[in-house]
Amino acid sequence: MLCDKFRNFTRMVIYQIYPRSFMDTNGDGIGDLQGIISKLDYIQDLGANAVWLCPCFKSPNDDNGYDVSDYMDIMDEFGTMEDMDRLIAELHARGMKLILDLVPNHTSTSHKWFQESRKGRDNPYSDFYYWFDEKPNNWRSAFKGDAWEFDEVRGQYYLHTFAVSQADLNWENPAVVKAMQDVVDFWVAKGVDGFRIDVIDCISKDFAAGKNGFGPRLHEFIRDLFGRENVSHIFTVGEGAVKDIDELVRHCGPDRNELSTLFLFDHMDCGRSDKFTPMDDSMKSLKDILLRWQMENDRHGMLHSLFYDNHDQPAMLSRIGNDRELRYESATGLATMLYLLKGVPFIYQGQEIGQTAAHYDNIEDFDDIECLGWYREFLQKYTPEEALEKVNFGSRDNARHPMCWDGSEKCGFTTGTPWLLPHSRSAEINVEADLASDKSIYRFYQDLLKLRARNDAFLDGDTEVISGEYEEYVIYTRTLGDEKWAVICNFEKTSLIRLPFSCEAPALTNLGRPTAGGVYKPYECAVCRVR
Ligand code: GLC
Ligand code: CA
Repeated sequence: MLCDKFRNFTRMVIYQIYPRSFMDTNGDGIGDLQGIISKLDYIQDLGANAVWLCPCFKSPNDDNGYDVSDYMDIMDEFGTMEDMDRLIAELHARGMKLILDLVPNHTSTSHKWFQESRKGRDNPYSDFYYWFDEKPNNWRSAFKGDAWEFDEVRGQYYLHTFAVSQADLNWENPAVVKAMQDVVDFWVAKGVDGFRIDVIDCISKDFAAGKNGFGPRLHEFIRDLFGRENVSHIFTVGEGAVKDIDELVRHCGPDRNELSTLFLFDHMDCGRSDKFTPMDDSMKSLKDILLRWQMENDRHGMLHSLFYDNHDQPAMLSRIGNDRELRYESATGLATMLYLLKGVPFIYQGQEIGQTAAHYDNIEDFDDIECLGWYREFLQKYTPEEALEKVNFGSRDNARHPMCWDGSEKCGFTTGTPWLLPHSRSAEINVEADLASDKSIYRFYQDLLKLRARNDAFLDGDTEVISGEYEEYVIYTRTLGDEKWAVICNFEKTSLIRLPFSCEAPALTNLGRPTAGGVYKPYECAVCRVR
């Protein structure tokens, strides 16, 4: 059973927005806060009651907002603080919540803190970052190359776990902790309901370790941020690299006073052997990993973050499902399997219309700083065509193209020139077309989320996995008191499988067949009340 605080959070359904690509209202080709406000009905009608915005603070945008230059102001391209206040008010008027993206591990090198810090060894910001005469280790940047950069101004090296312009903050300095607490308090005072916390596991360092992450003071720092009385009501989800259950419990155990939940990434490797290399069908491993973490979370009274897609990942639908002939079936089947588990559902923009991974013809069409770093390295081993193929498979731009609102040339996203090329299938896959279709993925999501919201067994019922021997099926039950539901999803792609299980009058099915017992078609799913 979940504790009261966590049980309330299971009522949240979070819609993740990449503001740069969601909706542009002033024709500069970049999405903005007014654009988000204009689409709140669309999000609420879907069944979401919270939005998470990728970073919207002032930023030179080397890493699209994950390089913050002022945490208490709004990115010029996105609008003004008045727009933000209005967004908060509009959300709250609808009974919806706002989750912001906090980036505590690093700032942009154009942040005032860094600009002051680099000036010398004895100003108030000198120790806001890690400065060394000699590199203390040979850590590599996640975006390729050395993680240490020599700064001519200060005459020392600083650490950047990500881009050269994303300098890691020195959390050992109490003034940094205080500065980040002030950021949290500033936004909570404005009414923000929670945070997604970027690369949380990196904030405490152990320079003797092989790479950055899980330093000795990590949990102390997390509590410094979120264990305080004045913020104890907010929702927090960390982006972590946690792979074992004990570490997960240390982050999110009900009595830890740290995070509400954590994104786990084990299942994100399904369908690829590394970020840029595809692999054959791996539905079985997706299912096994998801269900394993579901049981672990459940056993410890923790909340599972239920997600497939985000701004860093090519759509799961394209990796695992059939994103051509069976796009509707795959998208709805995958959603059913995931969102009826116990936890907090996250839906990434476009997922609700079965958006697929994007594809670009030229390397110049890409913007993602990460994939461009990798591309340069790939060229040493592969032909330009092969390197482009790898980038097309793994680039984060796969998920960052403008949202497709309609089938027109600019997808209804902007009247200007979109900052990133529209999706190559935007004429076919867009909101207008989906809503006009009798196989609408958006409407299926509505039904799914309604079913979940109306039946407490999906919120806090026990989960039992019963698909054991049927490799290509996912079957689980959710039970609360005498209320029991069965969720059955078939992921067999080519042949039909017989199931000794009857689900006579499903409350939800993606193929609309009155009797979903017996033989399931590829990607067919059904949810029924077991009596
Ligand atoms: C996280 C973000 C990613 C960003 C990185 C550095 O992984 O999700 O988009 O580039 O952190 O802040
Ligand atoms: Ca704009």
